[in-house]
Amino acid sequence: MRIVLVGPPGAGKGTQAAFLAKNLSIPHISTGDLFRANISQQTELGKLAKSYMDKGELVPDEVTIAMAKDRMEQPDAEHGFLLDGFPRNVSQAEALDEMLSAEAMKLDGVLDLEVPEDEVVRRIAGRRICRNDSAHVFHVTYKPAKTEGVCDVCGGELYQRDDDSEDTVRTRLEVYHTQTEPIIDYYKAQGLVVTILALGKVEEVTARAMEALSRQA
Ligand code: AP5
Ligand code: ZN
Repeated sequence: MRIVLVGPPGAGKGTQAAFLAKNLSIPHISTGDLFRANISQQTELGKLAKSYMDKGELVPDEVTIAMAKDRMEQPDAEHGFLLDGFPRNVSQAEALDEMLSAEAMKLDGVLDLEVPEDEVVRRIAGRRICRNDSAHVFHVTYKPAKTEGVCDVCGGELYQRDDDSEDTVRTRLEVYHTQTEPIIDYYKAQGLVVTILALGKVEEVTARAMEALSRQA
């Protein structure tokens, strides 16, 4: 299956993607995680990406599309993938369509996670992620680590993302509404969108998502 996950910052895309990718046996491809890995390895791409991410703005399409394409061409993505955070504007969606049609492939569905804005802000404010792996995600209230500040999975240090400050979150939400939301209409025109309410326990949301995707397949 080839699936795109869309939703505002803090909607739980990364959290859900980890479970959905496992259930569907496809790799979870997060452009945000790829950028953060580049930042921690201090690559040129990481330095460039950080200058945009810290302001809550989108990293330029050219480098983002090239990075996503490179990841989607890895052998583990041959039979499907779950995209998280890509595409993030209409030109990225068009680039993805071109990439897929060049290989005679298509998307199977676009899962839209709906979460009210006040909940999104609560989720982001309490989020803590692991220095070793940004896929290890916790929340001070909703999913506290067993030992405060220490990752349950690998023992790494938990920290708050630089772009999770109040000001930057406001910009990220605005960028989501103006630049990312239009891709929902773009994909609706292709009959690909399923929208679910992403409130409730993590496993309840996963079950809702699996059910919605099975209707789409
Ligand atoms: P990215 O990393 O993609 O961030 P985002 O879209 O803002 O999404 P988040 O990671 O903030 O949230 P999420 O939805 O994954 O939520 P999570 O599961 O962590 O992008 C960051 C930046 O990179 C962008 O601003 C941009 O600069 C750049 N970038 C990335 N892709 C790009 C692209 N394609 N083009 C250009 N630039 C790009 O959950 C949040 C919290 O809530 C966690 O603490 C979690 O434990 C908790 N939680 C989750 N589910 C629940 C639940 N059901 N109940 C209670 N708590 C929950
Ligand atoms: Zn960890």
